[in-house]
Amino acid sequence: MKTVDIDWKNLGFNYIKTDHRYISYWKDGNWDEGTLTEDNKVHISEGSTALHYGQTVFEGMKAYRTKDGSINLFRPDQNAERMQRSCRRLMMPSIPTDVFIEAVKKVVKANEQYIPPYGTGGSLYLRPYMIGIGDNIGVKPAEEYLFSIFCMPVGAYFKGGLTPSNFVVSDYDRAAGNGTGAAKVGGNYGGSLLPGAEAHKHNFSDAIYLDPTTHTKIEEVGAANFFGITKDNKFVTPLSPSILPSITKYSLLYLANERLGLDVVEREVFIDRLDEFKEAGACGTAAVISPIGGIQYKDDFHVFYSETETGPITKKLYDELTGIQYGDIEAPEGWIVKV
Ligand SMILES: Cc1ncc(COP(=O)(O)O)c(C=O)c1O
Repeated sequence: MKTVDIDWKNLGFNYIKTDHRYISYWKDGNWDEGTLTEDNKVHISEGSTALHYGQTVFEGMKAYRTKDGSINLFRPDQNAERMQRSCRRLMMPSIPTDVFIEAVKKVVKANEQYIPPYGTGGSLYLRPYMIGIGDNIGVKPAEEYLFSIFCMPVGAYFKGGLTPSNFVVSDYDRAAGNGTGAAKVGGNYGGSLLPGAEAHKHNFSDAIYLDPTTHTKIEEVGAANFFGITKDNKFVTPLSPSILPSITKYSLLYLANERLGLDVVEREVFIDRLDEFKEAGACGTAAVISPIGGIQYKDDFHVFYSETETGPITKKLYDELTGIQYGDIEAPEGWIVKV
């Protein structure tokens, strides 16, 4: 397959302008046909609700080049459904799952030369988003919407990839208890910029957020979910209504149980009980599986498996997940959609 000239092995997580993006408009209760365009600028009214009232939702997903040259999408129906839930939360119209997946496929095909070759560890990151547009000034849902999908080749999200990195517990909350934490909406991320920057300033990979009500339980690791392996080999992830339901996390809950034979549980993870875990990590589409070396909480720095080595169970989960995504390991029914 012909590709553009990019240093595939040294890709980070940065914007790269690719050739085509999908764009579709909603008005008077209907989506238009949708089209591919080369224009990477959006032209919207100054009154757009997205600009003032945060009426913006998005998704993050990837396309993978396999060994046989085909292209895999990983559980795109799950992204479509989560976007539908996010849209309902912000009173935005839905994109039907089949329309969403067809649009994703069109964008991948139109930018095929940007998919990192098999074996480089890279993938094509896809960013579907929807925003409220049109002439408006009141705090109310927009009467027009734009749905678009663009893409770019990416490598590791946290520096180091499968090398452990350290995180710091933030004093800030990511989301309110009964707020929008479970939806993938722009406002959640605007609020995370300052805690993220403070974490980076102190040489941590990102901020860890505790539950907004009691500040005693882990919710999220930056823009990724937390998991831990207990000393008696249980795969544990936090349960809370203000966490974004990570597709990677639910995939790992399944794989840890079905393929690795671990007991799995979603439950509270107390920040003062980290010693129950022998390994810990962050998981997400962008983060994949990023081992957590240690967590700074107030004056205490807790190291899990090691600050430099990846724990054996974390490594097994990583190999299983990425093996499925890149087509080297058989996927559970329905997880892989070919482009
Ligand atoms: C706040 C947050 N948590 C978790 C995740 C991981 O979710 P997923 O595995 O669906 O990418 C993401 C990324 O989408 C996120 O932004």
